[in-house]
Amino acid sequence: MQIKNICCIGAGYVGGPTMAVIALKCPHINVTVVDANPERIKAWNGPLNALPVYEPGLAEVVKEARGRNLFFSEDISGNIERAEMIFMAVNTPTKTEGEGAGMAADLRYVEACAKDIAKYSKSDKIVIEKSTLPVRTAEKIKEILEENSTNIHFEILSNPEFLAEGTAIQDLFKSDRVLIGGDETESGQKAVQALVDVYANWIPEEKILTTNVWSSELAKLASNAMLAQRISSINSLSALCEKTGANIDELSKAIGMDHRIGPYFLKASVGFGGSCFQKDILNLVYLCKYYGLDEVAEYWHQVIKINDYQKDRFAQKIIDHFGGDLTGKRIAILGWAFKANTNDSRESAAIYVAEKLHKAGATIEIYDPMVSEDSIYSDVRFYWKEIPKTHKDRFDVLKGSPNFNNVDAFAIVTEWEAFKHFDFKKSMVFDGRNILEKKEVTHLGK
Ligand code: NAD
Ligand code: UDX
Repeated sequence: MQIKNICCIGAGYVGGPTMAVIALKCPHINVTVVDANPERIKAWNGPLNALPVYEPGLAEVVKEARGRNLFFSEDISGNIERAEMIFMAVNTPTKTEGEGAGMAADLRYVEACAKDIAKYSKSDKIVIEKSTLPVRTAEKIKEILEENSTNIHFEILSNPEFLAEGTAIQDLFKSDRVLIGGDETESGQKAVQALVDVYANWIPEEKILTTNVWSSELAKLASNAMLAQRISSINSLSALCEKTGANIDELSKAIGMDHRIGPYFLKASVGFGGSCFQKDILNLVYLCKYYGLDEVAEYWHQVIKINDYQKDRFAQKIIDHFGGDLTGKRIAILGWAFKANTNDSRESAAIYVAEKLHKAGATIEIYDPMVSEDSIYSDVRFYWKEIPKTHKDRFDVLKGSPNFNNVDAFAIVTEWEAFKHFDFKKSMVFDGRNILEKKEVTHLGK
C-alpha cells in the first residue's frame, strides 16, 4: 500500500520531532501533526527560535519541511479523514486517581484519540501506537475503534519511539532500531510492510525489526526499565563509594570497559528524571502485579526506590553541610531541565531537590538556560509559599550575576555545558552531575 497522507495526533516531544523527520526524509508523503491544544499548534507554526520543543537540530529540520510536506494543524477531523496512516503520539502519564492510581498508565488521552479516529474515519486506516503503552493496549484500542464505527477496517500497529530528549534528531536520523509490531494476519502484515516502507526511506532494513504487537509494546517498557536500572545500579554504588574511598567515576570506567557491560548509562547522578523512566517502570510494576508476579514487580520497583533515595541523599548532603537547618541560607539551583539540551523539566531531579531544600528553610534561586520561567513556576507552585527567584539572562549569569554573589551554595542538577565554564570563585558547590573537576566541589560518590 502506498502511503500519501500521514496524520499524527499529539504535537509534543515525540509527535513534533518524529513527524518532522519523517516529512524531511519522505518528501512524497504529506505529514500533518494535529493537537487538541491550539497554542501548541500556533507555536509549531511560529518562529523557528520559539518552537514548543527545544532540540538541537530540530529548527533546521522544521525549516526545510514545514509548508512543503510538513504541516501543523488544529483540524483534527479533516486530517484523520484524509490520512491512510494515523500515529497516536499523545501523553500517557501515570494515573492519579481510580484503580492503579500512582502506578498504571492513564490511557484516557489514547482512548479519546481512538474515539476521534473512529468518529471521523470514512475509509480503512492503519492506526499506529507511537505513545508508550502497557502490553495488550492494542486490544482495547481495537475494541474502541470497532464499537464506534461501521464498515471500516482498522489495522493496529505498535511502533514505540526510542528517541532520547536532547539528542532526538540524531536518534531519529540514525536509530539503533525501529520496532514495528503487527498482527500475524495477512492484513496485519500488509500494514506492517506499509510502515516498513516509510522508514526504509532512511533507515537500513536490517535495523527495522518486526514482531508481534505484544512483544513490541512490552519491549518499549522493558528497554526503559533496563536503562533506568543501570543508572540506579551505579547510583546505589555511589553511596558505597562515599563510605569506602572508592571513586564512582573510576568504578564506572572500570565496569564499563567490560564489553559485555558497555560504558553507557553508567554515569552516577542526582537521579534520573524525565517523563518516561519513572512512569514506564511504575507501569511495568503495575502490570507485573496485575498478572500476580509480585517478586518481579518488587525487583523493578527497587529501581525507582534507589532513584528516590539518590535525589534525597543529594539534598540531605547540602542540608547536613549547613548543620541541618537552611534558615537564612540562599541556595542557587543550576539547571532545571531533567537533562542537558532540552527545555523539558518533567520529573526533573531539580524539582525534588529544590523542594527539600526549601522545606529545610532555604531561599532558592534557579537558573536554567532553556526551561521557561512559566514552566519553573508551574513545577513549584503547588507546594511553595514564595515564588523562587529565577535568572533568565544567560550571559549575566555566566559572568557571575550580582544576585548570585550572595548565595551560600550552588547545587548543580543538570549537566549543561555552560556550567563547566561558570566562575564559582570560592563558593560552596555541590555537583550532582559530576561535571566539574574542581577540588573544592563536593561530588556525589567521591
Ligand atoms: P507531550 O505531553 O509532550 O505531548 C502530547 C501531546 O498530545 C500534547 O500536546 C497534548 O495536547 C496532545 N493530546 C493529548 N490528548 C489529545 C487528543 N485526544 N487529541 C489531540 N491531541 C491530544 O508527550 P510526549 O513527551 O510527546 O510523549 C508522548 C508519548 O510518547 C508518551 O506515551 C511517552 O511515554 C512516549 N515517549 C516519550 C518520549 C520522550 O522523550 N518524551 C520518548 C519515547 C516515548
Ligand atoms: C529515555 C530513553 O533513553 C529513551 O530511549 C526513551 O525513548 C525515552 O526515555 P530520555 O528520558 O529522554 O530518554 O533521556 P535519557 O538520556 O535516557 O536520560 C534520562 C535521565 O537519566 C536523565 O535525567 C539523565 O540525566 C539520566 N542519566 C542518564 C543518568 O543519570 N546517568 C546516565 O548515565 C544516563
